[in-house]
Amino acid sequence: MKESQPIVITGFMGAGKTSVAVALARILNCSSVDLDRATTISNGRTPREIIEQDGEQLFRELETRSLQNVLRASSMRVVALGGGAWTLQINRDLINSHGGITVWLDPPFELCWERTVPTRGERPLATDQERARMLFTERRALYALAQLRVDVTRNKSIDQIAAEIVEALPVQRE
Ligand code: S3P
Repeated sequence: MKESQPIVITGFMGAGKTSVAVALARILNCSSVDLDRATTISNGRTPREIIEQDGEQLFRELETRSLQNVLRASSMRVVALGGGAWTLQINRDLINSHGGITVWLDPPFELCWERTVPTRGERPLATDQERARMLFTERRALYALAQLRVDVTRNKSIDQIAAEIVEALPVQRE
């Protein structure tokens, strides 16, 4: 893989995308960026605030715009997406056009659900367990379009997951 190719982490809410991106960037000695955070900074509102105040559709538009900006920034190498970003064709096209290597973090639903308990209020699309489970199930086929898939289990540490990703990358980085 080329130095300029971003590594893009996808997966459901609670999959551990942000933590794994940070750990991976540490191993690869590069920077990481969290798309939800980038969206928050450029709009002055969190994804939750945007979704609650203006609806999911506007959030998706703003999210795509920040993804464009993030991918344009050449220094950014590991990108943690929000859980819905990769499910949109426009975003997958953008990532692919930047040569992004996409990694799907794939934990069981129960683990995602448990992990989002402390921040559940921040995730308006995962307030109800049955609705969240349906979204999880619906999205699997789209997450499966990622180039790499990593099993996430309760007893695997963030560092272990990051190390697995490094192993699976097309060419080892220096
Ligand atoms: C969303 C996931 C959230 C955030 C927004 C929508 C989703 O990010 O982008 O609430 O559609 O799955 P995390 O996956 O980081 O929680």
